Parts: sequence; structure tokens; C-alpha cells
Amino acid sequence: MPSIKVAILGFGTVGEGVYRILQEKREEIKKSTGFTVDVVSILVKDKAKERMPIKGAQITDNIQEILNNPEIDVVFEAIVGEEPAYTYLSDAIEKGCHIITANKTMFAKHGPALLKHAEFRDVQVGFEATTAGGVPIIRTVTNLLAGDRVKRIQGILNGTSNFILTKMRDEGSSFKQALSAAQQNGYAEADPTDDVSGTDAFRKLMILSSLAFGRQPDWEDVPVLGIDHLEPDEILDASKGDLRYRHVADIWKDEKGKLQAAVGPVLIGADHPLFGIDGVDNAVIVNTEYLGQLTLVGPGAGMYPTGSAMVADLLHVIRQHEAILVPN
Ligand code: NDP
Ligand code: HSE
Repeated sequence: MPSIKVAILGFGTVGEGVYRILQEKREEIKKSTGFTVDVVSILVKDKAKERMPIKGAQITDNIQEILNNPEIDVVFEAIVGEEPAYTYLSDAIEKGCHIITANKTMFAKHGPALLKHAEFRDVQVGFEATTAGGVPIIRTVTNLLAGDRVKRIQGILNGTSNFILTKMRDEGSSFKQALSAAQQNGYAEADPTDDVSGTDAFRKLMILSSLAFGRQPDWEDVPVLGIDHLEPDEILDASKGDLRYRHVADIWKDEKGKLQAAVGPVLIGADHPLFGIDGVDNAVIVNTEYLGQLTLVGPGAGMYPTGSAMVADLLHVIRQHEAILVPN
């Protein structure tokens, strides 16, 4: 049976999720694609850290051991921050590997360059997990663009913020208690300031902007506020008046074709599609010229939702790969 050899960069919440799903679904993947998927290397920062038992893969803190292994076909990346992630993935592409990333901090800025580089080297880039966790918004917008034009995208793009707002409203938790629960569940970023300040949602919006509109607005022109701007009383008072605060990221083309965007808490009523989105769920509303309006909802963070988005990207790569291996 032909085998796809993969490396996973980062073995925290997301990297471990990818590994677990690949092990749990090994037979199914084999049956549906005709390939076995073997994790051969895992990159971490601290090799001494205690981890779940790992079979058959080498754990390393040296990226060169992965980049110099000619057997590796696909590199998953789930480490933190812009660098060294961008350099590692550029190098992996240069070596002819397909890449699959969850790292939106890196991809919001360097995604367009990575995609160009990958096209030149004839490899693929999966980035479904960078935006809205397990919600397949990247694949959906990509499919829509084949026969349609996106006019506006609006959504809840940060699971941690939505989880905190829900817990404060429904359970009377303090901001600190709710954030701590989000961290324990693996939803929050290593530095949760990115979640609660709106920065994480902004980066996801920029990834969607590149995809849907082929460009991003000037970052300095986009007003970005987080839920850290809200007082607990404001959240509770709103719910007494049948209104809810949602953290909304919004991008649209104005009449002159200029991109306009905003990120921040918005007070909405029961008739709004984002009103009932609770907990760690994300929701993305896409408005297009021909289809009209589409809303996708689902878990926006966490080990399994994010891991499943990355494994879905892998299956996409395998199907393309298979087409190359078995020409018509
Ligand atoms: P964690 O902090 O849980 O894990 C990060 C992993 O990366 C750790 O295994 C760490 O090693 C490793 N790492 C960090 N820096 C380096 C480095 N310089 N070299 C090698 N390894 C490194 O993060 P998450 O799993 O939560 O997130 C990973 C990425 O996925 C981030 O970019 C995040 O924004 C993104 N993401 C997270 C989601 C989530 O729900 N958590 C959802 C969608 C995207 P060690 O174990 O030794 O410390
Ligand atoms: N910290 C992010 C969130 C993870 O809460 O949405 C998913 O990108």
C-alpha cells in the first residue's frame, strides 16, 4: 500500500489533535484514499516535556532533521507566532513538501507569499484551520468563487471571546474565570491578549479578505476592538433588554470598490443571525452576488475541531496527489 509520510510541527493542542485523528482514522483513510498516512516526525520546542505516548514517530527539536528527510511528503504546522513558522514552511515548500497550517498569525501576513511560492513549486497549501477552527469556511469560499463574487463577510471568528461572553452572560462568571476556562479547554492563544483584544479575529478576517477579494485592506485603516473593552455590567444589562454583545469581524466592498472592514463588539437583536451563536462556536455569514446569503456555524477552536480541519486538508492533498500518481 502506498504511504504518505508526514511531519507535524508543534505538538500542543492542535498538533496533538492532528496526530490523534490520524491514528484514530488510519483504517478509514486507507480505505477511502488507498494510502496509509504515517507520521514520521514531530517537532517540539522542549523535548523533555511529558507527552502522550507516540508510536513510530521521532520527536525532535531540530527542524533540519525534518527538512533533510527526503521521504516527507506533507508538513503540518501548528506552532506559535510568525517566526520561525514562516521560514520553516517556506523551506518545506522549497523541498517539495505540501504544507498544512493552523497558524493564522503567520498566515495573515505571509499567506499570499506562501501560496505563490507553493504554486511555483507545484505543491499545495492547506489553511482551513487558520480561520474559524472546524468550520469549513476556506473550502466554502474557494468553491463559491468558482462561479460567484463575494460582496461581504461578517462573522464571529474568535471562539475564546464568544465563549467568555456566553459564560459571563449565562453563568455570571467573571472575565477572569471565563478566560481561565477557555484556556483550560485549549481554546485560547498562548498569549490570550490576541483573543480578547480582537487581534486574532482581525488576522482571520485578513485571511478571508485575501481569499475572497484577492487583497487585504491597509491594516492600519481597520478599527479593531476586543471584548476586553466591555464592562461586565454592559454585557448583563444588554441581555436584560433582549440584546446581546457579539464580537463581530466584518469586511465588505463599498460603492467605489474599496475594502472596508471593522472588528469589535456589536450589540445585536434576536433577528440577527449571530444572536444565537453561543460558547466556543464561530459563525460566518457570506454574502455573494448570485447565491445571496450563506451562514456556516460550528466550533471555532479546540483540539478535535481544529485537527479535523487539518486532516480534511490532508485528504484534499492526497486526492490531488493520487491524480498525479494515477494519470488518466
Ligand atoms: P500550543 O501552545 O498548545 O502548542 C504549541 C506547540 O508548538 C507546542 O508543542 C510547542 O512545543 C511548539 N512550539 C512552539 N514554538 C516552537 C518553536 N519555535 N519550534 C518548535 N516547536 C515550537 O498551541 P496550540 O496547539 O493551541 O496552537 C498552535 C497553533 O495553532 C497556533 O498558531 C494557534 O494560533 C493555532 N490555532 C489554535 C487553535 C486552538 O484551538 N488552540 C485553533 C486554530 C488555530 P512544546 O510542546 O515543546 O512547548
Ligand atoms: N484562540 C483561537 C480562538 C483559536 O479562540 O478562536 C482558534 O483559532
